[in-house]
Amino acid sequence: MAEPVLSLAGVVKRYGGFTAVKGIDLEVRPGEIFGFLGPNGAGKTTTIRMVAGILKPSAGTIRVAGTDLATAPGEAKRRIGYIPDRPFLYEKLSGAEFLRFVAALWGREGPEVEDRIHRFLVLFSLGDWKDELIESYSHGMRQKLLISSAFIHDPDLIVVDEPMVGLDPRSARLLKDLFRSFTGRGGAIFLSTHTLEVAEALCDRIAILSGGEVIAAGTMEELRAQADAGGAHLEEIFLKVTSGPEMADLVGALHGALEE
Ligand SMILES: Nc1ncnc2c1ncn2[C@@H]1O[C@H](COP(=O)(O)OP(=O)(O)OP(=O)(O)O)[C@@H](O)[C@H]1O
Ligand SMILES: [Mg+2]
Repeated sequence: MAEPVLSLAGVVKRYGGFTAVKGIDLEVRPGEIFGFLGPNGAGKTTTIRMVAGILKPSAGTIRVAGTDLATAPGEAKRRIGYIPDRPFLYEKLSGAEFLRFVAALWGREGPEVEDRIHRFLVLFSLGDWKDELIESYSHGMRQKLLISSAFIHDPDLIVVDEPMVGLDPRSARLLKDLFRSFTGRGGAIFLSTHTLEVAEALCDRIAILSGGEVIAAGTMEELRAQADAGGAHLEEIFLKVTSGPEMADLVGALHGALEE
C-alpha cells in the first residue's frame, strides 16, 4: 500500500492542566479525503493546527509523506496547504498580490505561478476583483482566496478546518470538485466539518472525535457497523456515538429556556 501522506501516532495536546487531544493515531493515504468530525470542543481545530505545524504536540509524532514535522518542519510544511477556520488576510493587498505573496513565501515565482494564480482566480470568479484590495472582499470571497492560496505551491496534502462555511452553493460545489480532482491526482485531504451531508458525500474515511479521543473511525460502512446502525445516515451515527443528553431532553430544556 502507498505510503501515507499524513500519519499521526499518539498525538497529545495539553493546554496547561487540560488535555484537549488525548493520543490520536490515524493515517491518510494518497487519493483519500479524510473527514474529521466531532462535537464543539472535541479537539478538531487543535489537531488540525498541530498537523499544519502551528501548534506543537505535547507528545506523539506527526509525519507528512514520511517526514517528521517536529524534526524537519520546513520540508514537511512545504507539502501542506492549510485552510484555517479563522482566516488571516492582509487587507491592504489585492487578491492577486496576496496569492503572489504566498507563492513567493514558498519560493515560487514566474510565469508558471502567474498562470496558476490566474486559473484559481477565474475558477472562483474572483477575476474581476483580482486587483481590488482584500478589505473590500465579502466573507465568501476571502474564503475562496484563502482556499486558492492553500493550493498555490502545489502541496500533497490539504488540511482544512470547516471548508464550506460562507461559501455560496456554486462555490461549495466547485470546492468539492476541486477536492475530488486534487485527490484524483494523488493528493490527500484532511478536513474537519460539522456539515455531515458533506462529510458523507465527500469523505472516503471518517474519524469521529469526542473529548479529544477518536471514538469511531472508518468508511461509512465501517462506521455503520461500529455504531450498530445498519443503513443509517451519518447524522444518526454521529448522534449515537457522541451520545450526550437525548435530543428529546434537549428539546424539553429548550422549551424551558424560552419560557418566561
Ligand atoms: N489556546 C487554548 N488554551 C486552552 N484551551 C484551549 C485552547 N484552544 C482550545 N482549547 C480547548 O481545547 C478543547 C478543544 O478545542 P478545539 O478548538 O480543538 O475544538 P473543536 O473540535 O475544533 O471545536 P469546534 O467544533 O467548536 O470548532 C476545547 O475544550 C477548548 O476550550
Ligand atoms: Mg474547531
